[in-house]
Parts: sequence; C-alpha cells; structure tokens
Amino acid sequence: MHGSAGETPFLHGVSPQMHGTRAARRPAHHGEGAKVARRRVKRTYLTEEDETMPVMHIPGHEHQRPQEVTLEEIRAVMGECRLCPLWETRTNLVFGVGNPNARVMVVGEGPGRNEDLQGEPFVGRAGQLLDKMLYAVDLDRRTNVYITNIVKCRPPKNRDPQDDEQDSCIGYLREQTRLIRPRIIVTLGRIAGMKLIKPDLRITREHGMFIERKGIWMMPMLHPAALLRNQSQMEGAFNDFLILRKKIKEVCPETYYSVTPN
Ligand code: URA
Repeated sequence: MHGSAGETPFLHGVSPQMHGTRAARRPAHHGEGAKVARRRVKRTYLTEEDETMPVMHIPGHEHQRPQEVTLEEIRAVMGECRLCPLWETRTNLVFGVGNPNARVMVVGEGPGRNEDLQGEPFVGRAGQLLDKMLYAVDLDRRTNVYITNIVKCRPPKNRDPQDDEQDSCIGYLREQTRLIRPRIIVTLGRIAGMKLIKPDLRITREHGMFIERKGIWMMPMLHPAALLRNQSQMEGAFNDFLILRKKIKEVCPETYYSVTPN
C-alpha cells in the first residue's frame, strides 16, 4: 500500500513536464528513489486495489479519481507518451481494442511490427491465430472482450519489453483495468503472465490454470506467436480456451448474451 500519490510505483518522481527528458528516465534506473520504486513495483500487482489512494496512476493525472474517466480519456492523457525510451522508435502507440464493458480482458506483452504500424493490438499472424481461438469459444475482439498489452509501444526488433519499460507503462494498464473491471484476465505469454500473475510463473507448466485475486480470475496462456513457432503446443493451448469458456459461463455468463459493440 502506498501512503501518498508521490510514493506510487508508477510515478517514479516524474512530473508531466519531464516526460521524455533524460531526467524523467533517470529515476527508473538510478538513485535511492529508484531502488525504493523498484522494490514497490515488484510487490505491486495489477489487481491490488488501493483504497487508500483513489487516484489515477498516470503521471500528471493523480488529482483525478479513476471513476471520473473513460477509456478515451485515458488514451487522451497518454497523448504522445514519453515515459520510457520506446517512444523514440514507435510509429503508433497501441492502446487497446474491444468493448469497454467486456468482462474478459486479454493482455499480451507488447506490440509487434504490424501492431505498431496499424495502432491496434494483435493484428499480425499471431493476432489472426488469437482471433481464431477466440472465435472458437464465441469471443470476438470487437464485441465481448478487451485486448491490450503490458507495454503500449513496440520494443525494437520485437525484443522482450524490459522491466523499466513495463514499469513505466503499467499505470496505463492499471487504469484500463480499473475502468473495465473485468471478471477474468487472460495473459498471453511468459512476460505478461510474470508481470500480472506471478514473477516466477512457469508458463509451459502453468498455462491454463486459473487463480483468483481480489475477485478477478486470472489465467496465463501460451502466446500465439509461440504456438506458431511450436505447433505441438496447439492442442494444449486450445484446451485452455475451453477452460476459459467454462469459467466465463461460471463467473460472467453475460459475456455470451449481452453483446454491446463499441
Ligand atoms: N504480441 C503481443 O504480445 N501483442 C501484440 O499486440 C502483438 C503481438
């Protein structure tokens, strides 16, 4: 728990005026403040509700209560975000796609080349496979799920997003999650699972297993890009989607009958 807005792990002492400057980046890497911030980040999961501090986790918007904003407003305050160096190589910031009223949220690790060019998550080959698997369990990116990523800008050459990049960006995901209030979060791949579910996640062993945290059911899944590389895992991955469908019917059956396209 954090005592004041100034101590949130997402702020790193960065004022909105400092965005994109060297000084803005420094606290994520250097100094005593950074050590404290890093320690807090490690212990802070996405679903940890912070009743003592009903503020936005977005630098410069700590004065706003989360209930007062919409997804469009969160996107607007991100603007041309420069909280981490990924802004320098991005074409588009990739915010998210889907129904803001969805009960199911899908979180990948970060945009790839196609996503960077089109500004939408999972639109490349991995995305096409994801769409097929969603479709197989009656889910659809435009109607009854919301899809986003841990980092909103493409890491160069599709490398894994680094810890400090994830930490800079996670405040946005936190606000998206607080607004959407999903009953189920599915993480795709090792990076997203480790960030949102548990740091020592063993994705090959633990995919398909739900855990409940503060009323949200969370399940790590294999990343569709990994499935394209290793097709022998496809059956196991499909089975995870069947497990997902069962959980949806149990905790948020409205996913399947109230379709409100955004
Ligand atoms: N991989 C991801 O993790 N996210 C995307 O949006 C695309 C590919």
